[in-house]
Amino acid sequence: MRSVRVSDRIDWVGVIDWNLRDFHGYETPRGSTYNAYLVRGEDKTALIDTVKGPFVGELLARVASVIDPAEIDLIVVNHVEPDHNGGLRDVMAAMPNARVVASRSGVAGVAEYHDGLQVEAAGADDVIDLGGCTLRFLPMPMVHWPDSMFTYCAEERVLMPNDAFGQHMASAERFADEVGLDLALEELTVYYANILMPLGKQVAKAVEKVVATGWEIETIAPSHGVIWRGEALGAVLDAYGRLTVGETREKVVVAFSTMWGSTDILARAVADGVAAQGVEVAVFDLAASPVAGVTRHLLDARALLVGSPTLHHGMLYRVAGYLQYLAGLKPTGKIGGAFGSYGWSSGACKQIIGRLEAIGFELPFEPYTQKYRPSAEEIAAAREWGAQYARAVREMG
Ligand code: FEO
Repeated sequence: MRSVRVSDRIDWVGVIDWNLRDFHGYETPRGSTYNAYLVRGEDKTALIDTVKGPFVGELLARVASVIDPAEIDLIVVNHVEPDHNGGLRDVMAAMPNARVVASRSGVAGVAEYHDGLQVEAAGADDVIDLGGCTLRFLPMPMVHWPDSMFTYCAEERVLMPNDAFGQHMASAERFADEVGLDLALEELTVYYANILMPLGKQVAKAVEKVVATGWEIETIAPSHGVIWRGEALGAVLDAYGRLTVGETREKVVVAFSTMWGSTDILARAVADGVAAQGVEVAVFDLAASPVAGVTRHLLDARALLVGSPTLHHGMLYRVAGYLQYLAGLKPTGKIGGAFGSYGWSSGACKQIIGRLEAIGFELPFEPYTQKYRPSAEEIAAAREWGAQYARAVREMG
């Protein structure tokens, strides 16, 4: 197994999960990586993070390509979620001489996850000297869990921020400039939308906290996806600046499900009405669209228009499922609306509106509903219904 040099004294020894297709219940068509790093001082060597349980053998093989795992002196647990901490016990078994440190909250998390396993706490005042190479720590609660922590190596100017700046993307290349900056930034955005969206304030604070330390940073080495260096470093910091303030543009997302095609017709008419106003629109049939992609589009949109016919007096389950998914991500500063066709009983739009309001969407207009197959007049009305959202979106700028 090949390790990859990140800097003079830091090597990537993580694993590539090429076939991961689901993470946290959302789609990851490009797979992911669980990055771990070896930091080699003159006296001691540290492993920053471990990996998901089934991949420990691959991690150890990569470590062994650099140093005998039994010679590792320190394991840093930046985050106790199982993709980084699940394999800890097996890794410790192969590194019997290693101290293990985590944030204060991480110490409790490791004990709870690993049946009482005791590790040491490392905090913002601690410096671990590996011999001409030091490690510093910053607790980063809720980036992504209460236990999350960043680790920094001053001599190498490398920040290892775990989930922050990550992307779910498997590749043979380890650096953003190698896979292509546009692709890396797009995957960063998908990851942010589906994992960090509800934590934007905490992520922004984390960046401020790092800036306040005065640490010089030449490389950001996250625990998922590719590593940011050179020009990519400025680009990813700019991207996080935009993402954490919730920057949006004149854009509307139309997400719907249909039963006999009438709500599909309405969705197309609504989208046409939006586009006719010169506002960007993205349309998704929730029966056929990965939620990760819908949510990535919603991230920089200003409006979400949700369509469903009525079945058993309510919305279709795929629409309900998406709204449930969205409730956890807590999008803010957006407007919403509901539309749909019905046969003998309405009710879907009322449910959708209730759900959107509970999530935090503002609802400036009444839902658009019609019975049976839309007539030409009803299609024109749906188009105008979409157009009014487009005008509202423009005014939000
Ligand atoms: Fe990559 Fe929050 O775990």
